[in-house]
Amino acid sequence: MQHKKSENVRFAAVGDVHVRKESAGQLREFFKQAAEAADALLLCGDLTDYGTAEEAKVLADELSVVSVPIVAVLGNHDYESGTPQVVRETLTKAGVTVLDGEACEIEGVGIAGVKGFAGGFGRGSLGAWGEPAIKLFVQEALNEALKLESALAKLRTQRKIALLHYSPIAGTVDGEPMDIYPFLGSSRLEEPLLRYPVDAVFHGHAHRGTLEGRTMGGVPVYNVAKPLLLRKRPGQPPFMIFEVPREETVPA
Ligand SMILES: [Fe+2]
Ligand SMILES: [Fe+2]
Repeated sequence: MQHKKSENVRFAAVGDVHVRKESAGQLREFFKQAAEAADALLLCGDLTDYGTAEEAKVLADELSVVSVPIVAVLGNHDYESGTPQVVRETLTKAGVTVLDGEACEIEGVGIAGVKGFAGGFGRGSLGAWGEPAIKLFVQEALNEALKLESALAKLRTQRKIALLHYSPIAGTVDGEPMDIYPFLGSSRLEEPLLRYPVDAVFHGHAHRGTLEGRTMGGVPVYNVAKPLLLRKRPGQPPFMIFEVPREETVPA
């Protein structure tokens, strides 16, 4: 008879930790607490404040206390110094799986990750029309959506998670000033999630958004930006725990 594990796979998710050089020593307890509460840590971009090599090193050191697997995507802040590859390499060397249109698997749960991009939601989505600069802007969002789609298409697991920095829906940016909605995410990121549904989507970036929403297909979307978790759930540690039933191993 097949032995079944009954417990769930637990994920601790947080985004927008915005590590600066002054953060050295300040996040260890937080990361340790998150790791102790989960089987894996998910980081939703804006890992650093300016994307410098120094900040990436500080983050890698802060994460050294984490004994569970760490999966991350970068955010716009990690691009600010023009060297996102340095942030990525530093974290990769520290054992973090940094996804940029790729997929990985943690204890039988598939994870597809990409930063995403801006452009707005629904009828407010920017269209590829007019000046070349506008077309380039829209193309960037389309490229990120394609990367998400190819990562989702690679997943062969029963249970799946999508990791983003930008939001795929307007619902989880509600609370932000309407004027900046177009810079907080893009409905183009929602399209692949309708074709390849997942158990949950995590993103950050909208520090003043809403904790939970759903795609048009009903998939739960969680905004886990650390400043938002701190404000909306005072007294609770600023990470979200999400549990996925452990996939049963099918005997060969
Ligand atoms: Fe942020
Ligand atoms: Fe951001």
